[in-house]
Amino acid sequence: MRPLIRELVASGVVGEAAEAQGWVRSVRHSKGVSFIDLVDGSSMAGIQVVANPELPGYEEVVRKLGTGCAIEVQGALTESPGKGQRVELAATSIDLIGGVEDDYPLQKKRHGFEFLRTIAHLRPRTNTLAAVFRVRNEAAAAIHEFFRENGFVWLHAPIITSSDAEGAGEMFRVSTFEPGSAPKTEAGETDWSQDFFGRETHLTVSGQLEAEIGALSMSRVYTFGPTFRAENSNTARHLAEFWMVEPELAFCDLDGLAELCESFLKHVLGRILERCSEDMDFFDQRIDKGVRARIEHVVSSPFERMTYTEAISRLEQADRDFEFPVSWGVDLQSEHERHLTEEVVGRPLVVTDYPESIKAFYMYRNDDGKTVRALDVLVPRIGEIVGGSQREHREGVLRERMAASDLDPERYWWYLDLRRHGSVPHAGFGLGFERVVQFVTGMANIRDVIPFPRVPGSAEF
Ligand code: 4AD
Ligand code: MG
Repeated sequence: MRPLIRELVASGVVGEAAEAQGWVRSVRHSKGVSFIDLVDGSSMAGIQVVANPELPGYEEVVRKLGTGCAIEVQGALTESPGKGQRVELAATSIDLIGGVEDDYPLQKKRHGFEFLRTIAHLRPRTNTLAAVFRVRNEAAAAIHEFFRENGFVWLHAPIITSSDAEGAGEMFRVSTFEPGSAPKTEAGETDWSQDFFGRETHLTVSGQLEAEIGALSMSRVYTFGPTFRAENSNTARHLAEFWMVEPELAFCDLDGLAELCESFLKHVLGRILERCSEDMDFFDQRIDKGVRARIEHVVSSPFERMTYTEAISRLEQADRDFEFPVSWGVDLQSEHERHLTEEVVGRPLVVTDYPESIKAFYMYRNDDGKTVRALDVLVPRIGEIVGGSQREHREGVLRERMAASDLDPERYWWYLDLRRHGSVPHAGFGLGFERVVQFVTGMANIRDVIPFPRVPGSAEF
């Protein structure tokens, strides 16, 4: 394979012949010479191509190049007199591989992110989106790396499921029935037994229940895949399709889980700082001033811990009016979460032991009978980035919780069965992958950190 522009720029040898392929980011003609800023998406920095009028086809090709044209350049690497670049490519030939039509929507100027969402097929050609997707890629690699180094097995949880892992009923149906002509039972209800899987099925909201199977056999596992939620949340931090990372550990309690979570997040953020330095400079200067320092601070300082009960009293003491009033028993809203992590502690905060009534059925019930061993990690600007818990591994208590959540124990027979055979304390959490990419890049909207966002009313591309 030919070297990418990133490789040429980093380690190309001055004086040697080289070739580059990519898209023109900008072109500037001055007397007697043209400068082309050529990028291929492998790094923020492109390579500067220098073209002289003696070049074959100079008038027909080079003078007519515009932003977005795809070209192939042959030439020699020379030392660059320009600031901020080590080498440039003195062209001996330039071929136009793909021109652009007059209506090419990307120009050198900055475009709004909302507009860019309408051209998701072209937006990765912008500096910002390409940088986001490179960071996203490094984040994914760092996640797998952390788990591999710590003895976790990557378990591929199913995407089509017949259980509701969160018990919240926010699922997309999977069916091959034609709308309007689904077979009916004698009682007049849809007869799902005749559907493709012989039962009602949905897209999964979480791979946790399957991850628990993995943990109770292989001790440490994680899932990392797409999850789906049919909640009608039109916010800057919700997607209908997002990726979740869900480690699950046997013989682990809430304290062990909180420790793991902290070292895991620090590893991932630290690796991004290390490996995406150039992109982080860009985010720091152009997208969110101070984001690099914020992430460095997270990596180097211990996370704070607080119970839900303490968090509520801190919120009650806060000298401000929240849109959603606070009292013991309410779920924390984004404004509360942000107040706690940004104003009260000024760093990531692990909130534990939430009221049973606002958390999912599978969380371990504390001895007080009213709270569960839940854990949420809150970070500045985002709020909740991780949600997890120690799991209820006592069959009797689990049955009670399922009944209270109106879940049919027959459907979850295998989940209950795990509590009957070799059941042990175990715990796990879910990290919203896009939220971590949002946090580290400072991007304001979660729709701009996933290549093809799915949100209410939109599923193009
Ligand atoms: O807190 P949640 O709902 O927890 C679970 O699903 C557990 N089963 C995880 C586990 O214990 N294995 O979701 C986990 C994380 C949230 O903290 C948030 O970061 C992210 O997933 N998340 C979303 N991200 C984007 N769009 C949405 N609609 C999200 N819903 C949750
Ligand atoms: Mg949650």
